[in-house]
Amino acid sequence: MKVLLLNGPNLNLLGTRQPEVYGRSTLADIESAVRDRARQLGVEVDCRQSNHEGELLDWLHEARSTCAGVVLNAGALTHTSIALRDAISAIGIPVVEVHLSNIHAREEFRHRSVIAAVCRGQIAGFGVTSYLLGLEALVNVTASA
Ligand code: DQA
Repeated sequence: MKVLLLNGPNLNLLGTRQPEVYGRSTLADIESAVRDRARQLGVEVDCRQSNHEGELLDWLHEARSTCAGVVLNAGALTHTSIALRDAISAIGIPVVEVHLSNIHAREEFRHRSVIAAVCRGQIAGFGVTSYLLGLEALVNVTASA
């Protein structure tokens, strides 16, 4: 079984981007932690990041036929992108929304996720652990599907 780990805008800057909010782990550190956990769970992970909304959409469409589900940190697109929401609805495979920070405890514009209602669930506020919990949740729902 293969899952897609998809990271959106600005997440390539992790490690140096507002470390007081997002921690000091780089995206490569996160991807490696997710790969390790995936290996233990017996699943394969395809890790991708883009700063471009259209590219994220194309990869979600591709995942429809190649992956059992998606762990997604959509970055700021979480709060704005109806196109992303529509893509998640369209692909029909489970998507778990993850965030490093607790978006509900931050600025008001971050409290609303336009993708939450079409995702299988949301995990926010646990730093790198949000991704690991997201992967476990995804593997769990795909196994019981
Ligand atoms: C984020 C939260 C978003 O509000 C923000 O725009 C990000 C990162 C997080 O992981 O905490 O880019 O998704």
